[in-house]
Amino acid sequence: MQTVNHAEVPFLDSVAAGPSAAAGRFLDIDAETFRTHFNRKPFLFRHNLCDHPLFRLAKLAELARTLPPSIVEYNAGKIPVSLPDQDKTPYTGLSAEETVRRIEECCSWMVLKRAEADPECLAVLNRCLDEIEPLSERIEPGMCEREAAIFVTSPGSVTPYHMDKEINFLLQIRGSKTISVFSASDREVLSEVELERHFTGAAIRRNMVFHERYQERATVFELKAGYGIHIPTTDPHWIKNGDAVSVSFSNGFKTRASLRRGMIYNLNGRLRKMGLRPAPYGGGALRDTMKLQVLRAINRAEKWLNIRPAEG
Ligand SMILES: [Fe+2]
Repeated sequence: MQTVNHAEVPFLDSVAAGPSAAAGRFLDIDAETFRTHFNRKPFLFRHNLCDHPLFRLAKLAELARTLPPSIVEYNAGKIPVSLPDQDKTPYTGLSAEETVRRIEECCSWMVLKRAEADPECLAVLNRCLDEIEPLSERIEPGMCEREAAIFVTSPGSVTPYHMDKEINFLLQIRGSKTISVFSASDREVLSEVELERHFTGAAIRRNMVFHERYQERATVFELKAGYGIHIPTTDPHWIKNGDAVSVSFSNGFKTRASLRRGMIYNLNGRLRKMGLRPAPYGGGALRDTMKLQVLRAINRAEKWLNIRPAEG
């Protein structure tokens, strides 16, 4: 896998440390960068959470043991970048708690999804997003569906190529990662049909087919402890861990606009399954508004008639 075709290399040193730590703030985000990039382009920032007790391995092992199994996902870490069929993901045979305790040598990848189920984690998530909300509301109002995830990964592990519905502020707490991010509006790497599938398929089916030719279209970030990266909604990305254990904390959320966009892609996907060729999202504000009204009417009718969508 070639990873050196950097479309653009943002220099970490150019992200200045601010007085945020002294002011008791968790994040240190440049307001002008936020204004020009938010939910359009990825960017780096600093944070002050590396020493927070929530992210100690003993605490994370306890969370892996006590959180509901449905929100703890873990597998082998030596996996390909292109792993669209998640049923073929290899596992290590370890428990979630053992995976954290032996993370240094067990070649694993683990995520505590919806980690805000833990009150301490919820408090950290809310403090981070309370700092972001005043900035994001001016651009995309209606922050909602706040979600936390904690990733614990072995040296050299790979997170396959995928995209997420959430707008993300990912904080690197420990270790380092190389993150290749692609634009959601780059039709050379991401088609309308893939976006439609993402918003009509099961939430767990996030991985996508990756072709090596995509890599030259990536923006590649070297993310070290103490830094964070903003990833706009549905910007595809894949991640390679550095040579140490990595812990990172994901602050995810949606906005009214991102929810609307997802609903339109959902409707377009359903129309395409019926053999139609829907106009892409964003082609016209009036058409998108009408689609939303149609989707709401369909949802109401399905509820009234007790129709459940087919799986897949
Ligand atoms: Fe992701």
